[in-house]
Amino acid sequence: MCGIVGYVGFRDCQGILLKGLGRLEYRGYDSAGVAIVDGSLHVAKCAGKVRDLESRLAADPPRGSLGIGHTRWATHGLPDDINAHPHVSSSGRIALVHNGIIENYAALKQTLAAKGCVFRSQTDSEVVVQLIEEILNGDPDLSFEAAIRLALGQVTGTYGLAIVNLDDPARLYVARKGSPLIVGLGDGETFVASDATPIVEYTNRVVYLDDGELAVLSPGSCEVRTIDDVPLTKDVHELALSLDAIEKGGFPHFMLKEIHEQPRSVADCLRGRLLPTGHVQLGGLAGVLDRIASARKLTIAACGTSWHSALVGEYLIEHLARLPVEVEYASEFRYREPLLDGNDVLLAISQSGETADTIAALREAKQHGALVLGICNVVGSTLARETDAGVYTHAGPEIGVASTKAFTAQVVALALVALALAEKRGTLSPARAARVAEEFHRIPEKIAEILTQEAAIRTLADRFTYAPNFLYLGRSFNFPVALEGALKLKEISYIHAEGYPAAEMKHGPIALIDRLMPVVVLATTGHTSDKMLANIEEVKARQGRVIAVTTPGQSEVKRLAEFVIEVPETDDLLSPLLAVIPLQLLAYHIAVNRGCDVDQPRNLAKSVTVE
Ligand code: G6P
Repeated sequence: MCGIVGYVGFRDCQGILLKGLGRLEYRGYDSAGVAIVDGSLHVAKCAGKVRDLESRLAADPPRGSLGIGHTRWATHGLPDDINAHPHVSSSGRIALVHNGIIENYAALKQTLAAKGCVFRSQTDSEVVVQLIEEILNGDPDLSFEAAIRLALGQVTGTYGLAIVNLDDPARLYVARKGSPLIVGLGDGETFVASDATPIVEYTNRVVYLDDGELAVLSPGSCEVRTIDDVPLTKDVHELALSLDAIEKGGFPHFMLKEIHEQPRSVADCLRGRLLPTGHVQLGGLAGVLDRIASARKLTIAACGTSWHSALVGEYLIEHLARLPVEVEYASEFRYREPLLDGNDVLLAISQSGETADTIAALREAKQHGALVLGICNVVGSTLARETDAGVYTHAGPEIGVASTKAFTAQVVALALVALALAEKRGTLSPARAARVAEEFHRIPEKIAEILTQEAAIRTLADRFTYAPNFLYLGRSFNFPVALEGALKLKEISYIHAEGYPAAEMKHGPIALIDRLMPVVVLATTGHTSDKMLANIEEVKARQGRVIAVTTPGQSEVKRLAEFVIEVPETDDLLSPLLAVIPLQLLAYHIAVNRGCDVDQPRNLAKSVTVE
């Protein structure tokens, strides 16, 4: 949610900032801007995409080696030219970019306005830059850094900030509370960004800022202190990200590339973790497995697609390990005074590891003394650093806003956790464990097999491109897949879609079914196959248009359905890993047919760092 990039060094920074913004654009894309110190403070910003900003800059490109850039996802104020970042102080000498929300901005704005400060934008962010200038004006002996500290002492809320000052042209000031910032250390140059993607091309040496820290960046160096001015020695980490991984690799969209990466990403998540006996080795959980296995229940908190994988996890863990699981929307969890104590275990799931509500949920659980675990894709993210133990999904960078390979990798990680807990709790026979392991290792090749049917799924997408509504039905392990299929479609094609437990359809959505309604049914072989068949009959009886995702043995389903997508047979409990793939492709091709911006759907952002 909002992307920040900054540079101080020896190169002309405009290209670095624009390229960085292009890589960060998935975090927010309603407007973009840069501020570059080139003898004067040159600010360019506009509503629209980074390419619009690029065209604007082409006419009069600023040259300078200190600069900041921003790509926005609006919270306060319309996404227009004026509300776009950077925001500049009244004197025109200080510029700032901000990710997060300044909660007390209205009160601060009122006080500053009463002192004569004239605000240009409706944003909460502008308040910070005006406040810094006001503090400096009040005490000309104060250093710029000290003025920032005093200003941050007055604001409440969350921020990732990058600030430049025309009167201090070799330093870039950054601060973090609640919104991620990574500093990249090069030779004679220093970078800052919301994530590592703009940095990886130049250096792999990074420092992760933590909440409550302020860093002064100068060419090749980074001095970090707490906001209260206590000096800190930070570890320098090595980035394990490759440039190839963040490019489209010949695919028209990141989403399609990421769908096609799933045979590999699932294999990577499994690699070295599951023995043929069904024994699981999860190094990150080794020290805490006993405690989880003996907990009275496991609470899982997540948002969006990660919440859907959490639901699959609930089915898997309860089925295999017979441990009660509760799945919570992270955004609701904190506000209903959760009943947790030192005996409880909370598992937070997040692709990015930066989703504000998920981080808030894990902090809440920590405060209650619970053991806090994570399943996360981004190495070094806030979630990864704040949990007691966890599992990385190793799916590689996911850039398309609609999550695909992160979902399947999360389900793999959860299935591994379920198997590990089942072994500890003695709830699974060795023979069954070995059978599940054998099937599990065949999942990557089975996903690859489904991907070969893309042309047929595209033809199906052509038939339903202009359907105004869709219904997705699933049962048991595949009920969360129905939710995920519906979410994929609505996120990227803007078609209204609902996912439902197939039998629950009778209590409402059945009223929507008529001869125009496409109903996607997840009808793979499993313990609820017969029940699913009855639900399909119910849809048919109302003339609904049945699109079945099914397995070769399901001849009755094939007889009833108008359209069939076949996925290979597998163990019932692993079927979500296969059934979801056609739904991803269906949503993708419908969205492309409708001319939608698949990788950057309207109003959405990849990483939601505000609550
Ligand atoms: C946003 C994204 C979704 C994602 C959700 C949770 O809404 O658009 O694709 O599932 O955030 O993100 P997380 O990084 O916590 O998994």
